[in-house]
Amino acid sequence: MIGEWLDIGWVNEIPVRGSRTVTVDGAGEIAVFRTGDDKLFALRNSCPHKAGPLSQGIVHGHSVTCPLHNWNIALATGQAQGEDKGCTPTIPVKIDGGRVLICRASTLKAAA
Ligand code: FES
Repeated sequence: MIGEWLDIGWVNEIPVRGSRTVTVDGAGEIAVFRTGDDKLFALRNSCPHKAGPLSQGIVHGHSVTCPLHNWNIALATGQAQGEDKGCTPTIPVKIDGGRVLICRASTLKAAA
């Protein structure tokens, strides 16, 4: 851990248009997504609809489609798109020297 940032591994360990999950003590499972244009986003791994595992969804653009009932969730905001309503918490993420860091304090808030 670097200060309030939690090191979760190398960027290259996250597939492009894919994700990996990390379990954070006290915060549950966090999904870190890597988009086709090589941006990273971190969200609680729980769809705002019925808690589907967003990490198993399809990443397209800056959104992920939930594998359970196909809601589209914006990766930057966690907001459901279109007619659907709901939001899953997002967690700040950054890259430092090729390592992926997520904001530990935000993971705990996201779990609350
Ligand atoms: S649980 Fe994600 S769309 Fe229903």
